[in-house]
Amino acid sequence: MKVNHDVVFEQKQKAASEAVKHVKDGFIVGLGSGSTAALAITALGERIKNEGLKIMGVPTSYQAFLLAVECGIPVTTLDEHPVIDVTIDGADQLTPELFLIKGGGAALAREKIVASSSKQNIIIGDEKKKVDFLGLNNQFVPIEVLPFALSPVNHQLFRLGGKTVVREGIRKLGPVITDNGNIVLDVVFGEIKDPVKLQLTIKMIPGVVEVGLFVGLTDIAYVGTSCGLEKIEKSRK
Ligand code: 5RP
Repeated sequence: MKVNHDVVFEQKQKAASEAVKHVKDGFIVGLGSGSTAALAITALGERIKNEGLKIMGVPTSYQAFLLAVECGIPVTTLDEHPVIDVTIDGADQLTPELFLIKGGGAALAREKIVASSSKQNIIIGDEKKKVDFLGLNNQFVPIEVLPFALSPVNHQLFRLGGKTVVREGIRKLGPVITDNGNIVLDVVFGEIKDPVKLQLTIKMIPGVVEVGLFVGLTDIAYVGTSCGLEKIEKSRK
């Protein structure tokens, strides 16, 4: 299928613009990673410049940190602010239940820590991110692994039925090294009928730092579509 990049960009932009309306004066904001989250960070920078919005951001990656600084968003840490008011982030796939696959930018561990520390989590994306089941279309699940444990974890994931690939750098030879000094395995499981169970099983493997399955963390998703914007809301209680 041919992808029209202008259309996808417009959909991401619509979702990002809506999400940043949730941010109020005095908020601590989790700043997600990836191209869609970057639009939200940029939009927050605009609100700071135009409205004098007073916020501080907790970046989920070095990418988000650099962009926040460029956009004039004061940055803080989880040590200073362990509770975040709202986090805005992207996703690789999302379902109507608001189950997610994340980690396309290898930031899954920090993204999940920040999401788990947030009172509200908003996910933004374009319509091709929305699926009935996670894992459709051969979407891989990113798994961050301690380098020491790479081979045994790889073996265990193979036994679980996963097809694993070590994520390689682009214009850098060898594996991608995460912001935490780890390696990412991209694992295709096919259709994931029970993401809760799969997440728990993988998390139990020694050496697994984090799994890119996000369940029960998201409150709202804004999905830009060809005719507007879809809002999906779930109660986490
Ligand atoms: C980074 C992520 C991203 O949010 C996810 O990969 C979506 O990225 P994009 O908005 O560029 O499609 O999880 O680790």
